[in-house]
Amino acid sequence: MLKKPWAKVLVFAAGLAPIFWLCWRAWNQNLTANPIEYITRYTGDWTLRFIVFTLAVTPLRKLLGLPDLIRFRRMIGLYAFFYGTLHFITYIWLDKFFDLADMLKDIAKRPFITAGFTAFVLMIPLALTSTTGWIRRMGGKRWQMLHRLIYFSGIAGVVHYYWLVKSDVRLPVMYGAFVFVLLLYRTAVWALKRKPGAAVKRPVAISPGALRDNP
Ligand code: HEM
Repeated sequence: MLKKPWAKVLVFAAGLAPIFWLCWRAWNQNLTANPIEYITRYTGDWTLRFIVFTLAVTPLRKLLGLPDLIRFRRMIGLYAFFYGTLHFITYIWLDKFFDLADMLKDIAKRPFITAGFTAFVLMIPLALTSTTGWIRRMGGKRWQMLHRLIYFSGIAGVVHYYWLVKSDVRLPVMYGAFVFVLLLYRTAVWALKRKPGAAVKRPVAISPGALRDNP
């Protein structure tokens, strides 16, 4: 089923569902008494969720024995960037109306903005180099190294959320736990591979398409 072309269409449609839902609520003037705050929080939540989904692809495909899950990773990652961009635009446009002085004051007053900004900036090179052409240009190894920035983006996203909540930290802690476990999995795999006696892998030539679809 995961191999079918329509599976990608389904994931694509699922990724658009949150923005459609937001537009539907806006159309019905149902964005609460503070629409800007609502949109900021809604897009922030979806950015973090898509980062977690992206990080979950590799562990899930290995643990569940579903290698074809990898077909969706790029799309899910790009959705994280899409919602992150909407979140950022909501802040600089709807919230601050491009008032740089006000934004600088905000950064000084609320450190969580810097953490969010860090998380967002780290995603930019990943989105820009997500294509097969870029894998070819950079070479598989370097491309993989660069794309590990998503780990730091996830951590910065959680710190951003944790710092901004005033009292009830349950949700940021829950996201933090997800990111922690998903990164722990990678660390464990890496440590096991380095263990003396672990099977030594011969270097193989990796084609860009294979890396994107089957790393
Ligand atoms: C990958 C990047 C980012 C992620 C994952 C992220 C995630 C989040 C999350 C989960 C929330 C809380 C939503 C809730 O309360 O339900 C939030 C709120 C917020 N974020 Fe971000 N964010 C990111 C980047 C940014 C950036 C770049 C800015 C601004 C420069 C920003 C500004 C804000 C603001 C102003 C709020 C609302 C704070 C409040 O309600 O007091 N975020 N973000």
